[in-house]
Amino acid sequence: MLALLAVGGMAHAARLTMPSDALVLTSPEGKLEMRFAIIDGAPYYSLKRGGQDVLLPSRLGFELINREGLDRNFALTDVSTSSFDETWKPVWGEEAEIRNHYNELLVKMEKPAEAPYLAGGKRGKAADVMYIRFRLYDDGLGFRYEFPQDNALTYFMIKEELTEFALTGDHTAWWIPGDYSTQEYNPTESRLSKIRELSDIPHKRGGWPWTAFSPTGVQTALQMKTDEGLYLNIHEAAVLDYPTTNLDLDDKNFVFRTWLTPDAEGVKGRMQAPCKTPWRSVMVCTSATEVLASRLVLNLNDPCVLDDTSWIHPVKYMGVWWEMITGKSEWSYTYDYPSVQLGKTDYRASTPHGRHGANNENVRRYIDFASANGFDALLIEGWNEGWEDWFGHQKDFVFDFITPYPDFDLPALNRYAHEHGIRLIMHHESSSSTQNYERWMEQAYQLMNKYGYNAVKSGYVGKIIPYGDYHYSQPTINHYHYAITEAAKHHIMVNAHEAVRPTGLCRTWPNMIGNESAMGTEFRGTIQPGHTTVFPFTRLQGGPMDYTPGIFEMDLSVTAPGTTGHMHHTLCNQLALYVTFYSPLQMAADLPENYARFMDAFQFIKDVAVDWDKSLYLQAEPGAYIITARHPKLSTLNKASESTATLADAKKGVVNSATKFVYALPDNATTADLANAQPHDVWYVGGITDENAREVKVKLDFLKPGVKYEATIYADAPDADYETNPQAYTITRKTVNSKTVMKLRMARAGGFAVSLRSL
Ligand code: NOJ
Ligand code: CA
Repeated sequence: MLALLAVGGMAHAARLTMPSDALVLTSPEGKLEMRFAIIDGAPYYSLKRGGQDVLLPSRLGFELINREGLDRNFALTDVSTSSFDETWKPVWGEEAEIRNHYNELLVKMEKPAEAPYLAGGKRGKAADVMYIRFRLYDDGLGFRYEFPQDNALTYFMIKEELTEFALTGDHTAWWIPGDYSTQEYNPTESRLSKIRELSDIPHKRGGWPWTAFSPTGVQTALQMKTDEGLYLNIHEAAVLDYPTTNLDLDDKNFVFRTWLTPDAEGVKGRMQAPCKTPWRSVMVCTSATEVLASRLVLNLNDPCVLDDTSWIHPVKYMGVWWEMITGKSEWSYTYDYPSVQLGKTDYRASTPHGRHGANNENVRRYIDFASANGFDALLIEGWNEGWEDWFGHQKDFVFDFITPYPDFDLPALNRYAHEHGIRLIMHHESSSSTQNYERWMEQAYQLMNKYGYNAVKSGYVGKIIPYGDYHYSQPTINHYHYAITEAAKHHIMVNAHEAVRPTGLCRTWPNMIGNESAMGTEFRGTIQPGHTTVFPFTRLQGGPMDYTPGIFEMDLSVTAPGTTGHMHHTLCNQLALYVTFYSPLQMAADLPENYARFMDAFQFIKDVAVDWDKSLYLQAEPGAYIITARHPKLSTLNKASESTATLADAKKGVVNSATKFVYALPDNATTADLANAQPHDVWYVGGITDENAREVKVKLDFLKPGVKYEATIYADAPDADYETNPQAYTITRKTVNSKTVMKLRMARAGGFAVSLRSL
């Protein structure tokens, strides 16, 4: 046993200094330095970059329910260090290979405790044992608490996690308000000291249900920038069987503390040793583009646990969706039943209201369009009984996920889709009755298997049932994970909306191909210019988002006559999102008839890939602009169409449009043509800006030297503007090479998209 390494220091974190004999961990290239010490029995850590403080001594530990806290009386019992350097290949992602390189410090500590009774009347270990595992990368720190088996702590309940992040000053932050149930808020940019004053504003324009806990509460991933130009990002990784944390700010001392989501009884974590908490992560970068390139959160997650991932593939899809969101049509079938009783309500005896979007004829129309334009899949919402009273009643038995409405012929529509090379995407809106969803889940997944659905969009609108629980609490976290693991058994990919914001678990479970978990396109006119220039720094740090881009008709009264509202972006801004906003699941969210009016611009959405072997973050500032270049991953490009071809009732030989672009194949090309074709070298570049118009220069020095490329440039027209002229764009073709510097102008809330194909 090692002696206690450090004692001393003052009681208040903000004025505390680390003792000179604190343990020191340096990152592989020495960029970051972490210190750990036990001070007066309590664990503390601090972080520096290049000799400069990043985190001042910050407290660690827990308050427990009915038990002495894990923040005092500790003595260090063991210390070990190790190094790790491995390169792994994600099933899908922003690049083909990711390096996971860190130095680790594991500290073990104990404090006297009453020995628990074991089976047979024996007594266990008479000490509470806690480990803290630190992993230090050159771009950030991860750490988590672990509770081994041999412990007086067996079953214990967390009152508060005390982990702090003591900042060095009043940094600029891009934040959304802390909440136990929703992250559907506009991000706010402000100094930390202004959060208290501003925190109510996003609430007024946010989603529901709100469960704010503090005027200085914020959510992770939290992006900050110091006056010295350091980019700090606090998040968490691998949140499993533990509540999600918010952060609460002490805005006098600029100290954030973790603020866990309680369950319905107020417990903030029910633990059973051996167990561990999620990782807490702190990214430290010297530029915004480095933040976008960091894989800290993914690296802190465990490797993939699925032996066979051949059934997982990227998906570009359309949906019978935006027409319901805009109010052009409805999810429901009839106005006859204000109260639906599953299995009893007879829809065939009702009068249809005639506004049901998911009807056979309309679905076929979408399949025809998606197929003609080389998409992989089509989402259909409102296909199943129960939408007449699904919202706002906290209804337990809300949907059965297996019974279609009378005008939705599920077998026939799947057959029709497969014959056209399209997979249908299932929709399961749980209405947050997680217990009801679990009742039906197995049958629902079996139905999907039977008819050839291999992806589901699930949803968690409204308050959680079991009553009193929250979207981020431990039991609900366990529900989301159950849905993913059960889906994997059925070879189903999952895209969960309103579920907790992701924490990199897609590395371990790559069938989790998407999440919404933020304010997506469905918020329409509420979304402010610049919204999407924040997300890659915050929401996307934990995993991809189903943002549902591609809205070409910004005047919503055109899409849904009789409604009002306007989107805050230009058409080219939407094109760029397919590159700046990483997701292996990308939707072209607008209606076929809106795309039909702009087929030349729609070509970019057809051509763009959704999985990459290389991504370059060329220029970026959070909340201002992002310019990204990506190179498609050939091995996965055609997987989605292959997956359709394996279905018994499918049209064989389908090639999706992104593959056609890479191989320069004509629209009517088949897999036979593909077999004889050579890939071209292809890149896509996307740029977006906030409410400010910008002129930018983009160097194409990432292209192969000496090779000529055809660039197709989709740019805001000189008179484009998100408010007055959002659909004005130009499309130009140019021959370029690695020495070319493109000069581009982005309108207010505008952008540009470029596809590059070697000649
Ligand atoms: C909210 C989801 O985010 C949206 O995409 C979906 O259409 C509705 N819930 C209905 O399930
Ligand atoms: Ca939503």
